[in-house]
Amino acid sequence: MPLRSKITGTGSYLPEKILDNFQLEKMVDTSDEWITERTGIKERRIAGTDEATSDLCLKASKRALRSAGLKPSDLDMIIVTTMSGDMPMPSTASILQGKLGAKNAAAFDLNAACSGFLYGLSVADSFITSRKSSRLLLVSGEINSRFINWEDRSTCVIFADGAGAVVLEPESGKRGIISTRLYSNGELWDLITLPGGGSKHPIREANINSKLHFIHMKGNETFRVAVKTLERLVTDTLHADGLKPSQLSLLIPHQANIRIINATAERLGLPMEKVFVNLQKYGNTSSASIPIAIDEALKAGRINEGDYVLLEAFGSGLTWASALIKW
Ligand code: ACO
Repeated sequence: MPLRSKITGTGSYLPEKILDNFQLEKMVDTSDEWITERTGIKERRIAGTDEATSDLCLKASKRALRSAGLKPSDLDMIIVTTMSGDMPMPSTASILQGKLGAKNAAAFDLNAACSGFLYGLSVADSFITSRKSSRLLLVSGEINSRFINWEDRSTCVIFADGAGAVVLEPESGKRGIISTRLYSNGELWDLITLPGGGSKHPIREANINSKLHFIHMKGNETFRVAVKTLERLVTDTLHADGLKPSQLSLLIPHQANIRIINATAERLGLPMEKVFVNLQKYGNTSSASIPIAIDEALKAGRINEGDYVLLEAFGSGLTWASALIKW
């Protein structure tokens, strides 16, 4: 029997503050109708001014550990995926480790933007199946709202805050992570960027005046690449793993845009009952969207033992990734 990584606990945390489309109508030149039609989003969560990304991660992590029946000291590794960490240094994972008191765990961050959770899942799977880790916490947390230009209607209606966590442990048998696939096309790096604050455009008055400390997105170009890429990704993943779409119990896509999700489901011939969607409530929480969705899907009874679940994401980089899990 092969050694596989199995998700043994999940948890999520969404900040309390809700920002709905009608409130946004008062802030920028937009409408509930436009946002709903073009994205599917109705409302999103915004972190409190006293919350940092590690705080969101902490709450999601505690819930995931509780559901796995583990203590923080049981963990041997913590991976945080984020593009909106507490600070460039130290890693948000190290800060989280300290807050959790997970004194036996190594800790590091991983950034693949919206594909971050699936990149993290693939790295976690490698650590577990090579026996370098046996109790791993993978947390994806984002406070995108801190990097939003609230005058830019093409981004401020989309991005939002939240965190999701999973605990992974090894198990011999047929259940667990069947495959992960990771891709990147760095030639298209400039479609979605947060240019300021790094070595290229450090925090200087001129760069702030040029609004380089905000997320910039060429939405329409990104949309077209995303639809084409994801359609190919999901069909290739199922084909390579010898699975027919009808054998899938649930597709959990990155929650970016309902039109992208519909196109992917249509390509697979999947009815929408087999697709998990919660972006109407939370918007695009970048790397956090998939683990939040997994947690909600489990709690809603949408995932059961033995189910095949397909995860897919697309984001800045450009990066895209998939994972097939037998639950
Ligand atoms: N309200 C009203 N009108 C708007 C808004 C808004 N919030 N935003 C844009 N518009 C206008 C534009 O100005 C434009 O007007 P014009 O025709 O007069 O010039 C018109 O609407 C159409 O604009 P498009 O950008 O073509 O709109 P589109 O239908 O493509 O929707 C969106 C924009 C929602 C951003 C879409 O392109 C999208 O979802 N893109 C993909 C995003 C994505 O998946 N990103 C990857 C993950 S993110 C990450 O990795 C960090």
